[in-house]
Amino acid sequence: MAFSNVAMTVVAALLVAAASSPARAGAPVAGGAPSVPAGPLDIVHLGAKGDGKSDSTQAILKAWKNACDATGTQKIIIPAGNYLTGAMELSGPCKSSIIIRLDGNLLGTGDLNAYKKNWIEIINVENFAINGHGTIDGQGPLVWKSNECQKSYNCKILPNSLVLDFVKNAQIRGITLLNSKFFHMNIYSSQNVLVDRVTIKAPGDSPNTDGIHIGDSTNVTISGTTIGVGDDCISIGPGSKTIRVQGVRCGPGHGISVGSLGRYKDEKDVEDVKVTDCTLVGTSNGLRIKSYEDSKSSPKASKFLYEGVTMDNVSYPIIIDQKYCPNNICVRSGASKVAVSNVIFKNIHGTSNTPEAITLNCANNLPCQGVQLVNVDLKYNKSNNKTMAVCKNAAGKSIGVAKELACL
Ligand SMILES: *[C@@H]1O[C@H](CO)[C@@H](O)[C@H](O)[C@H]1NC(C)=O
Ligand SMILES: *[C@@H]1O[C@H](CO)[C@@H](O)[C@H](O)[C@H]1NC(C)=O
Ligand SMILES: *[C@@H]1O[C@H](CO)[C@@H](O)[C@H](O)[C@H]1NC(C)=O
Ligand SMILES: *[C@@H]1O[C@H](CO)[C@@H](O)[C@H](O)[C@H]1NC(C)=O
Repeated sequence: MAFSNVAMTVVAALLVAAASSPARAGAPVAGGAPSVPAGPLDIVHLGAKGDGKSDSTQAILKAWKNACDATGTQKIIIPAGNYLTGAMELSGPCKSSIIIRLDGNLLGTGDLNAYKKNWIEIINVENFAINGHGTIDGQGPLVWKSNECQKSYNCKILPNSLVLDFVKNAQIRGITLLNSKFFHMNIYSSQNVLVDRVTIKAPGDSPNTDGIHIGDSTNVTISGTTIGVGDDCISIGPGSKTIRVQGVRCGPGHGISVGSLGRYKDEKDVEDVKVTDCTLVGTSNGLRIKSYEDSKSSPKASKFLYEGVTMDNVSYPIIIDQKYCPNNICVRSGASKVAVSNVIFKNIHGTSNTPEAITLNCANNLPCQGVQLVNVDLKYNKSNNKTMAVCKNAAGKSIGVAKELACL
C-alpha cells in the first residue's frame, strides 16, 4: 500500500500529536514519518537461518541497528523458524519507535560463554513493542544444573531471557517465554510497560525461573497472562510503583510476591500495587509480601490492594512475612526495618493446601499497619487439621470473614 505525500503528512502530524498526548503514552509512536531504513528489517534477509543450529545473533543485531537509525515506526520481522542466538544488547536511544514482530522461535544457546549477563536485553529505548505468536526459548534444561543459588548466597547468576533496562513506553504482547535459564523477564528502571496475553512456562522444579520480576519501575501492567514456573510467577522488587496485575493465572510456582525487600543497601519503597481477578493453582505461596529479618535497608511497603483472587490448592494463600530468611542465609536479629502498611485483601476465596490460610508474621518492633481482610473465604481442604490464621503483630480489621480467619 502506498501513501500519497498528503496522506503521509497527515499521518506524521497525527503521530506527533499522539507522542505529546499523555493518553497515548503506552503506544509505540515516534516523532516524524517513517524513513526508509538503510538495510532490511527481516532477519532472514540479513542472513539469519531458522534451522535451529546456525548462529543468527549478528542478523538480529543488524536489523536492530537498521531500525534504530531510521525514523518513524519501524518493524523488525522474525518469521517462522528456529533461530539460535547468543547474547543480544538491543540499545538505544533510537530515532524510531521499534516493533519486533516475533513469529519464529528464538533459542538461547546453551553455551554460557556466549553471555555476559542477560540474553535479550533492551536498553535505553523509548516506544518499543514485541508482539506475535513466537517463542523466546531460553533452553534452560541445558544449563539448570550449573545453578548453585540454592546452595550459595554469592552464586553466579545465569542469563535472564528478556530484560528491559531504562525502557519507557513498551508493550510485550502475545508471545511465549519458555524455559528461561534464570528469570524469564526482568523489568528494571522502566516506565509505562504493558505485558499482555503472554504465556510463560517452565517446570515447577526448575531453579530461579521467575516469570516476571519488576524493580525500580513505575506504571507496569501485567494482564491476561498465564505463568507456570519454578519460582515466583511475578515478583515485585524494591522501587516498584503503580504496578497492576490483572487477569493473571499462576501455577505451578511460588505465587505473586512483593520482595524480597531489604536484601541490599539503598532499596527504594514499594508503593501502590493492585492485584485483581487472578487465579493461583497449586502454588507454594499465594499473595505474599516478604522482607528480610536483618534487612540492609529500610524501604517502606505500602498501599496494596488484592481483590478478586481465586486460590486452588495453594499453600499459604495469604502471607506477609517480615522475617523472611530462606535457607538461613541471614542473621536472625529479630528486628525488621521494612515497614508494611495499608494492605487490603478483598474477595479472596478458594482452597488452601496448608492449614494456615492466613499468615501475618510481622515484627514486634515494627508491626504491620492497616491490614484489612474483607470477605476472605479460604478452606484447608484436608481432614487432618483445620483452617487457621496465624497472625503476629498486625493491626487492622476483618470484615465478613469466618471466625477462624478473622485474626484482626
Ligand atoms: C501507564 O502505562 C500505560 C501503558 O501500559 C499507558 O497507557 C498509560 O498512559 C501510562 N500512565 C501514565 C500515567 O503514564
Ligand atoms: C496440591 O498441591 C500439592 C503441593 O503442590 C500437591 O502435592 C498436591 O498433589 C495438590 N493436590 C491436588 C488435589 O491437586
Ligand atoms: C478438596 O477440594 C476438591 C476440589 O475443590 C474437592 O473435590 C474435595 O472434595 C475437597 N476435599 C475436602 C476434604 O474438602
Ligand atoms: C495443624 O496445623 C498447624 C499449623 O500448620 C500446626 O502447627 C499443627 O501442629 C497442626 N495440627 C495437627 C494436629 O497436625
